[in-house]
Amino acid sequence: MEEAVIQKAIQYIKEYFADDYSGHDYWHSFRVYKLAEEIARKEQANLFIVRLAALLHDVDDRKISPDTYERKENAVSFMKQCGIDDRIISDVCTIIEDVSYEGNSVTPQSLEGKCVQDADRIDAIGAIGIARAFSYGGNHNRAMYDPEIEPSLNMTRDEYRKHISTTINHFYEKLFRLKELLNTSTAKEIAEHRDRFMHEYVDEFLLEWVGKR
Ligand code: ADP
Ligand code: NI
Repeated sequence: MEEAVIQKAIQYIKEYFADDYSGHDYWHSFRVYKLAEEIARKEQANLFIVRLAALLHDVDDRKISPDTYERKENAVSFMKQCGIDDRIISDVCTIIEDVSYEGNSVTPQSLEGKCVQDADRIDAIGAIGIARAFSYGGNHNRAMYDPEIEPSLNMTRDEYRKHISTTINHFYEKLFRLKELLNTSTAKEIAEHRDRFMHEYVDEFLLEWVGKR
């Protein structure tokens, strides 16, 4: 029964995110699902809850689906259709709520939530994180880089929200910090290499910019 639900959830998000390239596409959710599963196995978290929450973590996203965001209506109606226990539905909804990035400062209470949040953050770093950042930037008409805008590490969240920045700045504002925000030691291990690669990438980018490569 659990395996069947997971397969249905994969199918559901495939249809839900069809043709979305805003950064919250099907493959993002699918990667988060695989990463969360890997982390959950090592951390001995409840695999079913982790897999389900990872697959559904963006179907009620504030930006994509503002009307269902509050009550997680898409996730809930999917789970109800599958005949899932109210207790599990409620656990999954709590995880989705905590993981949503605006709630950046929320540390999920459950081990399962910690695994999903870590997986979502890991998908924002490394080679894939770099690609996502530049596609997001292009999508939002951001410059790749502007040497006249200094990376700003000390902005408050409000300043950050209003700030029009470049994609390279996004690394300083968010991506280089994600490693420190991870909950589990399994995720920290995975992040190590990805974080190093991202730093090497940005160093190389900046060297090319000034003609030293
Ligand atoms: P999440 O998938 O965790 O909800 P976001 O919606 O904030 O995250 O971002 C989706 C993707 O777009 C992430 O890979 C993120 O790094 C990237 N992104 C978000 N804001 C910016 C930005 N200002 N510049 C470049 N990339 C961004
Ligand atoms: Ni996500």
